[in-house]
Amino acid sequence: MVDADGRVGRVTFAHMVIETDRLVVRQPIERDRTRFVELFTDASFTVFGADHDVASANERFDRMLAMANRVSYAKQPVIERSSGTIVGYTGVDAVDFDGISRLEWGWRLIEEARGHGFATEAVSALLSVADESDDGEVLCLIDPDNVASRHVADKVGFRWSQRVDWAGDPADPTDVLVRSIGAGGPALLPPPSKS
Ligand SMILES: CC(C)(COP(=O)(O)OP(=O)(O)OC[C@H]1O[C@@H](n2cnc3c(N)ncnc32)[C@H](O)[C@@H]1OP(=O)(O)O)[C@@H](O)C(=O)NCCC(=O)NCCS
Repeated sequence: MVDADGRVGRVTFAHMVIETDRLVVRQPIERDRTRFVELFTDASFTVFGADHDVASANERFDRMLAMANRVSYAKQPVIERSSGTIVGYTGVDAVDFDGISRLEWGWRLIEEARGHGFATEAVSALLSVADESDDGEVLCLIDPDNVASRHVADKVGFRWSQRVDWAGDPADPTDVLVRSIGAGGPALLPPPSKS
């Protein structure tokens, strides 16, 4: 559900669990904190992203929980079914782009889980939830050197829009891709944090 301003609605199925052939994708819970702090402070996990210390990793997990309470396809754990281990995440978060807070889709896996098609499997499954929930457009931001991520984006239906200097910094070129959600439409915006 999207309101007249393009803000997506609140989660109506907070305990939704998606099962694919090899993965489970489900809402994050407080018990996941230790694992995500471990991942967010591991440079091999955060490659092509922001580095974190323990404090900022906790803040990042707080944001993940908060967003998951507001958007059904917010960033959430990707769990390998065979081991029950959290191997990454996928879903949307809010990002400031062109002066507007917009929904941006992300994906990230531990090194050992890469190269098996897991990202495409998890992202496709959660995108189906988004497609059933809302109509509009989400962003994806990718370092031009990140070939694997660009492949995932292409495979799940994102299309290249433009290359920008992130935060005006020519040393940080970033490819901006977009994907229609549901029937498509204007940019999807995060719901207000106190709604
Ligand atoms: C990006 C990432 C999530 C992809 O996960 P994954 O499970 O390996 O992705 P998939 O296997 O579903 O798809 C990757 C595709 O890229 C291809 N690929 C991977 N590395 C490649 C490379 N260096 N050059 C060319 N193609 C490459 C794969 O062959 C595959 O394409 P195919 O299915 O057509 O063969 C994973 O590499 C990762 O976590 N990277 C670090 C974090 C990151 O960059 N996150 C994204 C930030 S925008």
